Amino acid sequence: MSYENINIKNRQYKIVVDNIRKVYDVRSQNGQDNERFLALDNFNLKVKKGEFITVVGPSGCGKSTFLDILAGLSKPTSGKVYIDGEPITGPALDRGIILQGYALFPWRTVEKNIEFGLEIKKIPKEERKKISEKFIELVGLKGFENRYPHELSGGMKQRVAIARALAYDPEVLLMDEPFAAVDAQTRESLQEELLNIWEKTNKTIVFITHSIEEAVFLADRVVVMATSPGRIKEIINVKLPRPRINSQIRTSQEFNLSRNKIWELLHRDADKKQTEVSV
Ligand SMILES: Nc1ncnc2c1ncn2[C@@H]1O[C@H](COP(=O)(O)OP(=O)(O)OP(=O)(O)O)[C@@H](O)[C@H]1O
Ligand SMILES: [Mg+2]
Repeated sequence: MSYENINIKNRQYKIVVDNIRKVYDVRSQNGQDNERFLALDNFNLKVKKGEFITVVGPSGCGKSTFLDILAGLSKPTSGKVYIDGEPITGPALDRGIILQGYALFPWRTVEKNIEFGLEIKKIPKEERKKISEKFIELVGLKGFENRYPHELSGGMKQRVAIARALAYDPEVLLMDEPFAAVDAQTRESLQEELLNIWEKTNKTIVFITHSIEEAVFLADRVVVMATSPGRIKEIINVKLPRPRINSQIRTSQEFNLSRNKIWELLHRDADKKQTEVSV
């Protein structure tokens, strides 16, 4: 179905993904010929303003490819993506991005990395400092304000990237496995904090993860992808109440039902291809 004929301006959708397909030119096994690789096919999704979407799927199924397209960093081979009814033409300040292995500015301290977007927004120095202090505290980096990225661990760098994206306060947050490199305890508190921020600010979030539990805990809907070609297999509605508190949610029946359903969807193809999804 094409959305060209319906009212794209319909503001109830923050993001409309209209039948995208992404083909990469790759070298063949013998290294001499060019081949076409279908990374995404027939991909349709409508995301409401303020919705929290998580995406799970086996490694290589096209999750990052999809997020890069939403971010405007890569163009679909065919199909279109709309934000607030307008086609995406490139990266823009309305979308905060935390990419896989997202690099920090090596010449800026933790604090100055977090303040980067705020400088672009021309927020006065004192206010910038207040905001960066708040987010440094939130991601547990108090005392590390003046360190440079090379003086931090991988998980700490990732937390700076998260703080930087949140501090900038974009309407849409695109997150590619943002908590993958942090320890389990920090991860759970970051999940709760992200939900807190989301509930207060009505952001629209698209969040990629390899953890089924994380996907269910956070989302209104979980997009389950399949590979070869990368596509949506099913979208699961998560009917857990909000606000979600880790200790209450994870033992509930609804949580386990959703988790098991997604696990089965992902493992139905497991005999064909090993998935890298953890529960
Ligand atoms: N620039 C590129 N050129 C050619 N092929 C690419 C390119 N980027 C990605 N691919 C291929 O497209 C497929 C999807 O890649 P993508 O990075 O989107 O997967 P993913 O679902 O994010 O995987 P992971 O869970 O491992 O991060 C993979 O087979 C990958 O090899
Ligand atoms: Mg990826």
